Amino acid sequence: EGALAVKTMWPLLWNAIYSLVAFFVTLKAIPSFMNIFMQAGFAGVDMGKKDRPKVAEAMGVISGCVFMITIFLFIPVPFAWHLARLGYNEDHSLTKEQIDFPHHEFVEFITAVLSVCCMLFLGFADDALNLRWRDKLFLPTIATIPLLMVYYVNSNSTTVIVPKQLRHLLGFSVNLGGLYYVFMGALTVFCTNAINILAGINGLEAGQSLIIAISVALFNLIELTGAYRESCVFSLYFLLPYIGTTAGLLRYNWFPSRVFVGDTFCYFSGVIFAVVAILGHFSKTLLLFFIPQIINFLYSIPQLFKFLPCPRHRLPRYDPDTDKLNMSTTKLKLNQLHPLGRLMFQFLRVLRLVHVVPSGDGEMLECNNLTLINLFLMILGPTHEKRLTCALLIFQVFSSLLAFFIRYQLAKLVYDV
Ligand code: UD1
Ligand code: MG
Repeated sequence: EGALAVKTMWPLLWNAIYSLVAFFVTLKAIPSFMNIFMQAGFAGVDMGKKDRPKVAEAMGVISGCVFMITIFLFIPVPFAWHLARLGYNEDHSLTKEQIDFPHHEFVEFITAVLSVCCMLFLGFADDALNLRWRDKLFLPTIATIPLLMVYYVNSNSTTVIVPKQLRHLLGFSVNLGGLYYVFMGALTVFCTNAINILAGINGLEAGQSLIIAISVALFNLIELTGAYRESCVFSLYFLLPYIGTTAGLLRYNWFPSRVFVGDTFCYFSGVIFAVVAILGHFSKTLLLFFIPQIINFLYSIPQLFKFLPCPRHRLPRYDPDTDKLNMSTTKLKLNQLHPLGRLMFQFLRVLRLVHVVPSGDGEMLECNNLTLINLFLMILGPTHEKRLTCALLIFQVFSSLLAFFIRYQLAKLVYDV
């Protein structure tokens, strides 16, 4: 037991040191690449400022590359003991069994890196080419196939424990089989896109991702003493360097932003969460840490699926007179909506979840774009950009606390934990 603890703690400690170095490297690297990116056309207009300055875009690719380099340099560390034994075995005195190289763990590691790499590439392609929606949903699904294959070969556990209250109907556990793989694939698509659509104000994308990553890492640290220690260690190997590089990125993305993170960063972040959760066997728990993103997604559905008009940008509108952000709006005509769209619209209106004003004198209406950011503005009133980001990030922290409460307290009501 003690030997095992030492065997896992040393690599973890090294990983933490690597991550700290990665943080400083990111801090140094980003400013030195800012102009190069701007010259190459990777520039975005900061729409929340009076003079609308141009800012380097897609800088998530820098933090992503620092992350990849850190992980690559780290790969030998957890296997150092086995590598050393291989090295001393030139006379072939040890058999394969005695060396006992953990091929399954190694394959998990390499596959995880492969998926992250793919999404980093896809995200950068999106920033450069502005991909269509179709591709953004289709490509992450393909990128998970190697991951799901490794899951299939290494564990293939697709049974879920049934809540106590339903056991007389369904039994102790249910084997979801192929459906579980569909769930894991969908989880990856959700994670990659959910962060990207809760965006548009300085510091929000990197900030929310950092809070989710720290929360999941805390969860893994708590579970380190439990039955799934190895999965938790594996997850931390990825999360700590991610936290380091993202913290470095946030430093420049924070209000007033000197760089934008780009879709590169959102895809890269989403796939990291999906990978560690799938291979770490906590994919359902992961969703608890995405509560704000889930709310934002559900609220966005009418616009995402085109039941209501969806403008290219839904980020809040800047008011130069007050230097504050207001809700952004979209115009619609009730009788021109799809019947389902009309139903959704009336539903939101009855619940007072949408702010509607007549526009002009015809039947034209103006309603706020359906994002969590606008919902916050509806409650808070016009708000300064920095305060708005802080409010949303505080909400993210509270959601994490709620997630821990659900996972460790409420779960007792439905499971024997
Ligand atoms: C998603 C949202 C879109 C939102 C955009 C903002 C959906 C379906 N899509 O689109 O509504 O407007 O993100 O990121 O919800 N920007 C700022 N300040 C910031 C961050 C971004 O002004 O703090 C602007 C910049 O002009 C930047 C652009 O947003 O260049 C980036 O938008 P992009 O990531 O390309 O938009 P999408 O991810 O497609
Ligand atoms: Mg984006």
